[in-house]
Amino acid sequence: MKIAVLPGDGIGPEIVAQAAKVLGALRSDGLKIELEYAHIGGAGYDAAGDPLPDATLKLAQDSDAVLLGAVGGYQYDTLARPLRPEQGLLRIRKALGLFANLRPAMVYPELVDASSLKPELVSGLDIMILRELTGDIYFGQPRGIRTLENGERQGFDTMLYSESEIRRIAHVGFQIAMKRAGKNGQAKVCSVDKANVLDTSILWREIVGDVAKRYPAVALSHMYVDNAAMQLIRAPKQFDVILTGNIFGDILSDEASMLTGSIGMLPSASLDANNKGLYEPCHGSAPDIAGKDIANPLATILSVAMMMRYTFAREDIAQRIETAVRSTLQQGLRTGDIAEAGKQRIGTEAMGDAVVQAL
Ligand code: IPM
Ligand code: MG
Repeated sequence: MKIAVLPGDGIGPEIVAQAAKVLGALRSDGLKIELEYAHIGGAGYDAAGDPLPDATLKLAQDSDAVLLGAVGGYQYDTLARPLRPEQGLLRIRKALGLFANLRPAMVYPELVDASSLKPELVSGLDIMILRELTGDIYFGQPRGIRTLENGERQGFDTMLYSESEIRRIAHVGFQIAMKRAGKNGQAKVCSVDKANVLDTSILWREIVGDVAKRYPAVALSHMYVDNAAMQLIRAPKQFDVILTGNIFGDILSDEASMLTGSIGMLPSASLDANNKGLYEPCHGSAPDIAGKDIANPLATILSVAMMMRYTFAREDIAQRIETAVRSTLQQGLRTGDIAEAGKQRIGTEAMGDAVVQAL
């Protein structure tokens, strides 16, 4: 297993270090794991003047999987857009063809009180947001800021989805729903769009409906994104797999993370057509708490579990890691973001060590 490790910026290096400890422990148990590090985001800009240095992309291309921390920092906010840390992330997703972004949101029984919603609304919650990651208004051309004849400036972006892009992400959605049905009962996909307003969404809805015919065991529903945003707060357990485009998925996945109590718990996988993947926590680089040993490393550690599951097809190891995380929570160990007021908190390093202990 050759894994490219891209710690990135802010809390990235410290949380990735904890995930690397877990990989190190698995290696001592005999798993053939090889880690190679490279820069991305602001760290890429500092090292090579580019948020995605050529050497980093090459390493990622030559590896079986990529583990990424987070990108972004205040010091880069004034750079020209192509040099910003986020561009490193967007470019690596596009260059590796990582069109399928899996963002599971589940509520651990131990953390049910950390959610801002009432426990009965979220307890047992286990949903999967499947976000298309290489299309949509994120990458559509033309885009820019132009000056109109009257001298006023105008910003513009283009929302685009081609039929083949919709088809391939829809297939992934139905297949995930079928796999999940084993533990949750009926296989369900809710496709989220804005077909009452956007032409892109009208095509999205039509194609998703067409792909659905190949999966008669899956119940497909459609929902407008504004309603979905509301339903996620009103009754989140009605969902199983949410299938949606790049920008709606960006927004809804942040919303869903809060159902679970902390964005510090949410892993993600971004996969290409052959299950090669990039694995990263859903949260950002949190520069305000970087270097203080208080960030929660569990989302990154859980991203390694997803890597074992999806890229390396080692469900056994994935579950071993997830069980170790559960066990640290059961022991009452908490970083600040998931600790109840007045209860003891541990640091990033200590949390990483605790997971390794529990493996
Ligand atoms: C995410 C992030 C990124 C995105 C940013 C950092 C470019 O918000 O992974 O959700 O918008 O995709
Ligand atoms: Mg986001």
